[in-house]
Amino acid sequence: MSVMPVLMLGAGRMGGALIEGWRRSSAFEASDLIIRDPHLTDIARTVGDLGARLNPPLEELAAAKTVLLAVKPQIWRETAQEIGAFLAEDAILVSVAAGVRSADISAAFGGRRVARVMPTTAAAIGQGVASIYASDPEARARAHAIFALVGVVVHLDEEDLLHAATGVSGSAPAYFYAFVEALEAGGVAAGLSPEASRKLARATMIGAAALLAQSGEDPADLRRQVTSPNGTTEAALKVLMGEGGLQPLLRDAVIAATSRSVELGG
Ligand SMILES: NC(=O)c1ccc[n+]([C@@H]2O[C@H](COP(=O)([O-])OP(=O)(O)OC[C@H]3O[C@@H](n4cnc5c(N)ncnc54)[C@H](OP(=O)(O)O)[C@@H]3O)[C@@H](O)[C@H]2O)c1
Repeated sequence: MSVMPVLMLGAGRMGGALIEGWRRSSAFEASDLIIRDPHLTDIARTVGDLGARLNPPLEELAAAKTVLLAVKPQIWRETAQEIGAFLAEDAILVSVAAGVRSADISAAFGGRRVARVMPTTAAAIGQGVASIYASDPEARARAHAIFALVGVVVHLDEEDLLHAATGVSGSAPAYFYAFVEALEAGGVAAGLSPEASRKLARATMIGAAALLAQSGEDPADLRRQVTSPNGTTEAALKVLMGEGGLQPLLRDAVIAATSRSVELGG
């Protein structure tokens, strides 16, 4: 399957994270990238120096086999109008634009095949997650090929499940950061200096996440392993896992993000 060249429409936070991740994976040459963005970031310029084509004349866009739509959802139609006519007939669109439906993208890009992806910016360090939906098998395979290079890939059977994937994945790095912030504040409330609390909270959470990743064990098992009966951890978990604790809070948080995604998608 020929994925390359990839045309990136938009290389901001998300597009830039992908470029960074692909570059680290050394899976393809910078010269396989074509980037279109009115404000080129450092990472775009870096791959430009290595051979990526930056804002080339529109006629050159016909070379792209895969077109990554990574502009803000508000301007995707304008982008489609600008460049749609210059793409190859068999180019496949892979969109990360939150809430924009495949059928609309396909219609705006002259009926071309489309995959939708909800990624995370940890793609930049090869630890992203991508939820993928495409009704067309080739579009699905294309999205898989480019996102598997920068992290874990999950295929969804229905397009509407992308809303829930946004709630549990796309928006979720912020939940983790909020948790670490709150843990740091908790340490200060218990008497630690802000610096000590910051170091302890961050290193402990990062270590626990790495152990979860490397051990392959379920989080519930890991939790039990570090919780002695009547011990300190159990005292904290009575608060965290009690009524109004993490389970109902996160269920409500995921539902709130999922519902907002539905609203934004129109
Ligand atoms: N950031 C995330 O964590 C995340 C996660 C999942 C999905 N997404 C999706 O990724 C997409 C991009 O989000 P982002 O956070 O990366 O936004 P962003 O940082 O604003 O990046 C979008 C880039 O597209 C550029 N652009 C504007 N008009 C363009 C055009 N006509 N042709 C090509 N490029 C153009 C923008 O330039 P200007 O700054 O000059 O406008 C900007 O550099 C969104 O649709 C979002 O839903 C983002």
